[in-house]
Amino acid sequence: MESEPTLRARPARIPGLFALAVGLALTGCGFLDSPATTLLPKSDFGQTSHRIFLQILRWDTAIFLVVQALLLVAIFRFRERDPAVAPPRQVRGSAVLEIIWTLIPAVILTFIAFPTVAAIFRTQATPPKDALRVKVIGHQWWWEFQYPDLGIVTATDLHLPVGRPVSLEIGSTDVIHSFWVPPLGGKRDAIPGTTTRIVLTADTTGEYYGQCAEFCGASHANMRHRAVVETPEAFTAWVAKQKEPGATPPDGSPAAAGLRVYLLGTCIGCHTVRGVSGGGIGPDLTHFGSRRTIAGGILPNTPENLARWVRQAPLVKPGSIMPEQKLSDAEVTALVAYLLSLR
Ligand code: CUA
Repeated sequence: MESEPTLRARPARIPGLFALAVGLALTGCGFLDSPATTLLPKSDFGQTSHRIFLQILRWDTAIFLVVQALLLVAIFRFRERDPAVAPPRQVRGSAVLEIIWTLIPAVILTFIAFPTVAAIFRTQATPPKDALRVKVIGHQWWWEFQYPDLGIVTATDLHLPVGRPVSLEIGSTDVIHSFWVPPLGGKRDAIPGTTTRIVLTADTTGEYYGQCAEFCGASHANMRHRAVVETPEAFTAWVAKQKEPGATPPDGSPAAAGLRVYLLGTCIGCHTVRGVSGGGIGPDLTHFGSRRTIAGGILPNTPENLARWVRQAPLVKPGSIMPEQKLSDAEVTALVAYLLSLR
């Protein structure tokens, strides 16, 4: 009983600690405008995940309030009033209590599992016939998007038509990644040698931030993507553009000089520009200039960023396998002009 006065001497700290805990908890939410928020869902899958989250939050809040009320009753009703009175009967080791407080959480978890498991099955069920198929392939550290029925291959920017079901068939060429666009719904692992699936219908046009959600090596945090949800007309126009071969720069232009650098350098070993080169290791560059970002989605696609990236990719994205290019400033400028002309 010697240590008790110390404990009792400190209640003044408790409100401060409580305020700190509440403050820290509030920093975890409230940022509805965060690009990675799941609280403003933009697809049926997103709505389902959000509904389950709210449902569980309501149950948890009720459970929390009941537990706190019981705790307060116990604290005040059974506090020590008279040190001379013997302590109440001790119930340590009671089999009945142990069974009860094992069963209650089991029942609660079962209730949480029902809607969760149902949603997991529903969102990877056989897609409807009119669904747009997209093969989503994880690489260290960028996402490739193939549209097998449209003959299109792109990277980082995932274009989707609003209101049409999409079947994302997710795989990986190296390690386990996890595909996740927070406003469009839950994440799903990209596993080498197998295909996982998300079936969803985006319901609002816009650009949504995505982030690999499974630790996959040095640049896991730099493995990002964008879902570009657009009107059916805009999507059709994008598809038509993407089906064209890579642009041929006019003779004598800086881009034409860049094409020569591209052809004579190491680029063609790894990259495809349809009609020009057929490398299969790095992203397809046929319409590179139309993409919003570079380097796995971490930098805006500007000439300055692209020059940095072309020179020393591993400095921009640690672990990148794109080798350092021994190019003169003029060659870099030309190469950048060529790549950006591939719209
Ligand atoms: Cu890919 Cu983390």
